[in-house]
Amino acid sequence: MSWLYKTFVRPNFFDRDSEEAHNLVINQLSWAARRNWALGLARTVLGGPSLPVELFGLTFPNPIGLAAGMDKAGAAVPAWEALGFGFSELGGITRHEQPGNPKPRMFRVIEDEALINRMGFNNPGADAMAKRLRDWRDDNRWPAHPVGINLGKSKVTPLDEAPEDYLYSFRLLKELADFFVVNVSSPNTPNLRQLQDKAALGEILAALQEANDAQRPILVKVAPDLGFDALDEILELIEPHNLAGLVATNTTIARPSEDGLYAETGGMSGRPLAKRSTEVIRHLYQQTKGAVPLIGVGGIFTAEDAWEKITAGASLLQIYSGLVYEGPQINRAILNGLTKRLANEGLANIRDAVGIAS
Ligand SMILES: Cc1cc2nc3c(=O)[nH]c(=O)nc-3n(C[C@H](O)[C@H](O)[C@H](O)COP(=O)(O)O)c2cc1C
Repeated sequence: MSWLYKTFVRPNFFDRDSEEAHNLVINQLSWAARRNWALGLARTVLGGPSLPVELFGLTFPNPIGLAAGMDKAGAAVPAWEALGFGFSELGGITRHEQPGNPKPRMFRVIEDEALINRMGFNNPGADAMAKRLRDWRDDNRWPAHPVGINLGKSKVTPLDEAPEDYLYSFRLLKELADFFVVNVSSPNTPNLRQLQDKAALGEILAALQEANDAQRPILVKVAPDLGFDALDEILELIEPHNLAGLVATNTTIARPSEDGLYAETGGMSGRPLAKRSTEVIRHLYQQTKGAVPLIGVGGIFTAEDAWEKITAGASLLQIYSGLVYEGPQINRAILNGLTKRLANEGLANIRDAVGIAS
């Protein structure tokens, strides 16, 4: 299946500009998401074995989720479940609608299976997103798997007004999703990552939790470029702000070399991110003795990659670049591989494998 995608489908996409190909796929999925037969067909061809995970009081049919940034506008909400994802994270959404950075702003380093992007939170804004999500619900097309929303800061909002910016989006969207991820780790909004500073992040989280009457799980997404000390400071916020967990990691500003497309500014994802992302997961798991749920993301392409992240300490996983390079059968392939691996290790479920190599 992966061979079919790589031989016949991928070349058509890879002949195009990266963002243009992305938009084409999202438009197709958005079309399919409105047709039951198309969703059913995708489910039949691409669905994998069930591998349930219970976390945050939610049931995830399997541990592989769609990472933030793929469906920034909630254009294809029902499609992700049909492609076999156990959950999806929509957005990043900001209070204000914004166009993002000038194009081109997304690049493929094909030989290394990496992506570099400096999208800059192009998104329709929280009001439009709320309307879009209501439309999916009113159409009875809401997916059965958990849906999260990634919240970012609008570029026009000064850093010291960040709490109000996140809060505005959260208030509008809190009834419309199952969990929320505070994104203070994108490298593409100027100075955003300064909000990973303990005091600044604490203010944002306090504002959100005060409005969190429905007790939605709130997580924080961290950058792989933070040192272990800075990560430990973020861990100190977990108890006081009742955080449900962490998402590790976002894209990195580090590069394996300075050649060719690696000279483009932005965040790098894909295979070259895998090692650092796993190191961060392992550190967070060890520091918290496994008490804080982690969503592992960064360079997951195969069941082996997924197993590494789970055994380092991730309870759930997410994929972006792997979907671009491996195609839509990636979930089924990973889930089949994980099912076999669990059986070989004599483990009953994913939870039993979390952190066993940490
Ligand atoms: C084009 C693009 C846009 C992204 N947009 C967001 C975003 O809006 N919010 C966010 O938290 N992460 C965003 N990400 C980061 C991904 O969610 C993920 O953390 C990262 O790509 C590493 O996973 P991967 O190696 O599987 O791609 C984006 C990634 C890409 C490639």
